[in-house]
Amino acid sequence: MAEYTTHEHDVLVIGAGGAGLRAAIEASAAGVDVAVVCKSLLGKAHTVMAEGGMAAAMANVDDRDSWKVHFADTMRGGQYLNSWRMAELHAKEAPERVRELEAWGAVFDRTKDGRILQRNFGGHRYPRLAHVGDRTGLELIRTLQDHGIHRGMKVYMEHTTVRLLKDGDRVVGAFGYDRERGRFHVWRAKAVVLATGGIGRAYKITSNSWEYTGDGQSLAYHAGAELMDMEFVQFHPTGMVWPPSVRGILVTEGVRGEGGVLRNSEGRRFMFDDIPDNYRSSTATDPEEGWRYVTGDKSARRPPELLTRDHVARCIRREVKAGRGSPHGGVFLDIAWIKEKIANAPEHIKKKLPSMYHQFKALADIDITVEPMEVGPTTHYVMGGVRVDPDTQMTTTVPGLFAAGEVAAGLHGANRLGGNSLSDLIVFGKRAGEYAAKFAKEHGAGQIHDDEVQQIARWALAPFERDAKNNPYTVQYELQDLMQDNVGIVRTEAEMTHALEGLEQLRERAAAVGVASHREYNPGWHTALDLDNLMVVSQAITMSAIERKESRGGHFRDDFPDKDPAYAKFNTVLKKGPDGEMQLRRVDVIPLRDDLAQIVEDNK
Ligand code: FUM
Repeated sequence: MAEYTTHEHDVLVIGAGGAGLRAAIEASAAGVDVAVVCKSLLGKAHTVMAEGGMAAAMANVDDRDSWKVHFADTMRGGQYLNSWRMAELHAKEAPERVRELEAWGAVFDRTKDGRILQRNFGGHRYPRLAHVGDRTGLELIRTLQDHGIHRGMKVYMEHTTVRLLKDGDRVVGAFGYDRERGRFHVWRAKAVVLATGGIGRAYKITSNSWEYTGDGQSLAYHAGAELMDMEFVQFHPTGMVWPPSVRGILVTEGVRGEGGVLRNSEGRRFMFDDIPDNYRSSTATDPEEGWRYVTGDKSARRPPELLTRDHVARCIRREVKAGRGSPHGGVFLDIAWIKEKIANAPEHIKKKLPSMYHQFKALADIDITVEPMEVGPTTHYVMGGVRVDPDTQMTTTVPGLFAAGEVAAGLHGANRLGGNSLSDLIVFGKRAGEYAAKFAKEHGAGQIHDDEVQQIARWALAPFERDAKNNPYTVQYELQDLMQDNVGIVRTEAEMTHALEGLEQLRERAAAVGVASHREYNPGWHTALDLDNLMVVSQAITMSAIERKESRGGHFRDDFPDKDPAYAKFNTVLKKGPDGEMQLRRVDVIPLRDDLAQIVEDNK
């Protein structure tokens, strides 16, 4: 019989990025006892990789901005597959959440008259991103962390959750282990909030660090929750490409927001070559006008480098494939050129983009105030995730289980606009915490079943019984290669079918991996357990991507390169079947409420 320690809390939050911390704060404020479990150290979350800012229609820089324009931009960016209710709540509530962060001590950059400064970002009609240089996510985490600790939340750092526990239909807690000593823990809770972030580690080139193996998506799936829109993975256009050890590390969109331009090996701004019709209102080819591009009304101008991420990433890929890339397989991103426009440009760049300056200096020996960076697409974010109720964030099928932030689906549809993730975290983290606390108050603690716990413990310990020559890292690397090569930025039926077959073989090998030694400090064991999550999300992405025989947002198929109106009518939804098989179905998109449809129309 496996031994474990049991902890009791009203609300358990799994994940300590922006959404998890914001949920924990809200639940604590509602007067319930809250614990946060996180795989890594507190404060080390992918939230910090949303560097350039958080989108909120505060209208501090352009007073034409409003929640309505933000809503319309988000829906257009998401190609209308978004949950419109989430997009509405998000656009309406983001400004208040940002002001609240400021009241809790976040130090934003300022306009000359002392208001929170907002910058341009891709797909946003007006300057909308409240920011702290290029360290906005870090400031958000720092603020929430301090505030949460003062609120008295309990934190279990470096603890990994491997399964949710249920009593009948309802979730009643979670099972996991501490990464240092490998001891088992059961957290008994009346409500559980998943806030574990994304799936980037299912790909070889990613901005995500080691923690992002699709844990929350997989925990929810095994517990009977639904996954939605998993085909929509965001490849951020600009990650580092050189040297190899840093490939994939994010180069913030803030560089382009501050005037950075993309060029190919011929020195040409190739983004002018392909401007989608829905963004074109005039074409600016004049070199002076050249760094500007008109979107919507003429007074809201954007350079084409700030088209949506899916489009920019594909344009970069096209240049590289056509042999017009940079020496290490990317393209050039140039911010140094702004010296032609701005006095004291090097100081300006260092002030606005301090992390980028240091990142390139330290990791690539490049001074970005003088020379261009080499950049290429990197797996950054998943738009799909756990299917939730838009108002409460409770999962559609498992009472007591909530999800917020990247792990949840809905807000972003087929493609997320940059900056909409930090605001997503604080808007829906708050909602998840509020409704999880309400659920906890209205429901007693459920029963933890020891036989279920023992069964999970046996599963978790099984790698120690198997031959350590079957190395978990080899399986992980092969899975990442398979997904990168076959279910990446551009996909075809043949490649994805090959990926599904490959995943089937890898699943068998994952079930046979072994680890040596003991439970203390054993990263090989941790990787062996993570493999199950990576298998779930990789299969989910591939099956959904095969189902969607069109190109839309982050999902681009070479064999179906156009949008198909028939596919605008449904979301893909996955669920675990009775025999453990992954089942996929189409679920109709709910038609836009009339008043919101009018807003979209008015802001085309
Ligand atoms: O480019 C960035 O700073 C990333 C922002 C985001 O993903 O929202």
